[in-house]
Amino acid sequence: MAKVNVLFHSTQKRTSGKEGFNMTIQTDESMIEKQDITSMLEWLSSFGKTKTDGVTRLLYSPTWMKAQHALKQEMEACGFQTYFDSVGNLFGRIEGKDKLAKTILTGSHIDTVVDGGKYDGAYGVMASFLAVRNLFEQYGAPQKTIEVVSFCEEEGSRFPLAFWGSGSITGKYNLNHVSSLRDSDQISFLDAMKDAGFDPDQYISPVRRDIDHFIEIHIEQGQILERNQHTLGLVTHIVGLRRFTITVRGESNHAGTTPMPFRKDAVCMAADFISYVTKKAKETDPHLVATVGKITVTPNVPNVIAGEVEFSLDIRHHQEKVLGQFYDEIETYFQRIAFEEEMDVAITKIVDVKPVEMNTSLTALSKTITSEKNIPFQYMISGAGHDAQILGTFCPTSLLFIPSKDGISHSPKEFTNADDLQTGIEVLTEMLYKLAY
Ligand code: HGY
Ligand code: MN
Ligand code: MN
Repeated sequence: MAKVNVLFHSTQKRTSGKEGFNMTIQTDESMIEKQDITSMLEWLSSFGKTKTDGVTRLLYSPTWMKAQHALKQEMEACGFQTYFDSVGNLFGRIEGKDKLAKTILTGSHIDTVVDGGKYDGAYGVMASFLAVRNLFEQYGAPQKTIEVVSFCEEEGSRFPLAFWGSGSITGKYNLNHVSSLRDSDQISFLDAMKDAGFDPDQYISPVRRDIDHFIEIHIEQGQILERNQHTLGLVTHIVGLRRFTITVRGESNHAGTTPMPFRKDAVCMAADFISYVTKKAKETDPHLVATVGKITVTPNVPNVIAGEVEFSLDIRHHQEKVLGQFYDEIETYFQRIAFEEEMDVAITKIVDVKPVEMNTSLTALSKTITSEKNIPFQYMISGAGHDAQILGTFCPTSLLFIPSKDGISHSPKEFTNADDLQTGIEVLTEMLYKLAY
């Protein structure tokens, strides 16, 4: 693995009229050989590649840092002005001729889930980079400034918070929202941020007031497009998403000498809650999804009745009312059972993003372009969360999907064929041309 010699100039430097950190890590990582999307995704996936050929690139980790800095160098080599904001969002900017016009922003997130795929987020970043680079090479400077963004974090995989990157530029989040957070190794968010070169003491609000539109292209992460043999998904709505940490507390005790009626077994109560949530979700609404993806048992040894269980709960639906009612029902159930069993349950909300409608004019534009190119498309609701749902409450936003093979995502098996990757770039390029040139 190439060594990384770190050269920080963390002085605030006005770059292209935008406050930003002009900080460069010089890596002798190989630059991208071939500038086609498949090679670029392979190259990017080398930052955090796992034994199962997946990718783990967590916020502010060394692999995250190398990826952001290598991408910065790639964009610079293609003539982009690049800079980081205070939280580590990377921007590649092509200055427009009209200095009074607002900026067209396009991109996605650079972080991944643990042992995820090489397309989630990464495709949107690289497709935007390629689309803007091709436009710049072919037509020179646009009328309106275009920026490609590699959002620092979207998944919520390392710290109990999601959309830190896009939420920072819209003002949804600031340092107060992260100052007490720690990862599973008890490393504080602020320490991790500082170690990655983004010193919280030098934090300048990253909120952007100059964004005209935001366009994101992303893999569908589901099977609808593939089943319907459509190549493009024009997303009309993104589901609302609420994520919680549920902590069930009972009483640790001896597995051999404690008769069943006298136990306060946290694992048994958590198991009851998890089955209730799953059953209730199926009964409530076909579009409602509820997932328990993470669970921690304490003390987690075979001959001790567990005193505490902490598990994640992620619920989603495209109607806020359905989400609200469902949450109320499960909260009531959890509290009733804990009271009856003389045990404890605590519910901490980690993420709460509302369902968001995408901008209808932008969706109409993508429909016109897709139809003119005779690309098979359909309108659809996104069951996955995206940075577009954070930007969608902040500026006119559009989200485009390309198919995922077998609908698999958040897995090393994630795959999209080269033709679909390329078709997505063509439509994105055309949209950006119409908006910025
Ligand atoms: O969880 C999601 O829906 C997204 O991939 N972050
Ligand atoms: Mn994503
Ligand atoms: Mn994801």
